[in-house]
Amino acid sequence: MKINLNNLKKVKIESVFLLSVVFLVFSLIYFLVFIFDFQTDWANYQESYKDISSRMAKTDQEKELINQFEVNIKQIHIKELNKTDRCISCHVSIDEEKFKNIKQPLTSHPGEYLKNHPIEKFGCTICHGGLGMATTTESAHGAAEEEGSLYPMLGGVFIQSSCGKCHAENSYKETSVIGKGKRLFDLYGCNVCHKLYKSGGTAGPDLTKIGAKKYYDVSWGSEYHGDKNISEWLVNHFENPSYYYESKMMDFKMNNENATALAVYMLSLVPEEIPTEYVVKKKENISEVIK
Ligand code: HEC
Ligand code: HEC
Ligand code: HEC
Ligand code: HEC
Repeated sequence: MKINLNNLKKVKIESVFLLSVVFLVFSLIYFLVFIFDFQTDWANYQESYKDISSRMAKTDQEKELINQFEVNIKQIHIKELNKTDRCISCHVSIDEEKFKNIKQPLTSHPGEYLKNHPIEKFGCTICHGGLGMATTTESAHGAAEEEGSLYPMLGGVFIQSSCGKCHAENSYKETSVIGKGKRLFDLYGCNVCHKLYKSGGTAGPDLTKIGAKKYYDVSWGSEYHGDKNISEWLVNHFENPSYYYESKMMDFKMNNENATALAVYMLSLVPEEIPTEYVVKKKENISEVIK
């Protein structure tokens, strides 16, 4: 039999073409799945919320209610505070006690915080910081940029810096750290060198709005290359003023606990305008709460 070389060449070209098409189609599908998945983390969380809720539902009425739940971006808009928070798009069961043992972001909120501060009136970022409008975990939690973030979420005791916007610093045991920071500020005589609300020295910068500073407003020196977080900067600066650069500030040789308390207090000093109906009148004789 005579082999037709021309035909063979044609088959080869055709199969190369076919393979490339298959490859392209697969890449496209992979790419779409990746993008789709990436953009709808919140939708996946809401789907699991629906699943878990319907498994937990006992009555037909409860089942019916959860069937009606619509998966979409959920947000709280609070005109008075000028805030729009979408945190509950993922933390969708934050106010449902029965979710307390379900893993994040579906875990219910610890403590009495949401009972004392109804979600529709307070939202989340007024206490937690972070970027309210964001719909990805990283941007919402303020970790989207590698080196520091513009809207860092406050962690651990640093959340207490927010309580000071509306409550006297020493109101509750939950505000004992910020209360301590305020007392230390007077004890160490920080205002010998720093102005706070118009009174104080001028050897160091005015601290009246220190809590509004972004990571790029402070000096990191030339040696440091890690994540840039303003809370951490403050703690290190107080423990050792020359931690990042040669500082002119006095070294009080303070321990981490005191440095942290001072940092929490500093972070509460923000020029945020809080409407009077949100500000709680100072309580008298409550300072015994804090030892
Ligand atoms: C796109 C989904 C998503 C959004 C939007 C989101 N979160 Fe989260 N959140 C998560 C996930 C997932 C976790 C658990 C894993 C982690 O910490 O990254 C979590 C954990 C947390 C924690 C536990 C502490 C921690 O760091 O582990 C807090 C506090 C929190 N979120 C607050 C917020 C606040 C406040 C907002 C709004 C500004 C918000 N979240 C918006 C998904 C989200
Ligand atoms: C009044 C202030 C306040 C408000 C408003 C608030 N939180 Fe919190 N939240 C806190 C404090 C303080 C803690 C830490 C409590 C603790 O550890 O006992 C906390 C803890 C959390 C945790 C658990 C963190 C962990 O490490 O386990 C999550 C998640 C969370 N908050 C999400 C939210 C979301 C979402 C909203 C909005 C619906 C919100 N919070 C509103 C003050 C608040
Ligand atoms: C935006 C302002 C605002 C912020 C921020 C805020 N609160 Fe409140 N808080 C209020 C208001 C308003 C009430 C209601 C007071 C009332 O009913 O008398 C309240 C009520 C409370 C109550 C219960 C009422 C009482 O006096 O016993 C506690 C406890 C409390 N807040 C603690 C905190 C803690 C801790 C933080 C920080 C994690 C915090 N709050 C952050 C405004 C705020
Ligand atoms: C002897 C004067 C002096 C005293 C006392 C002092 N500081 Fe400072 N502080 C400075 C100077 C000067 C700077 C400017 C930057 C530098 O040299 O570190 C500074 C910087 C700071 C900064 C960074 C401000 C910014 O905008 O970058 C903070 C926050 C701060 N001090 C807080 C405190 C606190 C809290 C205390 C009390 C524990 C205190 N300082 C005591 C002199 C002082």
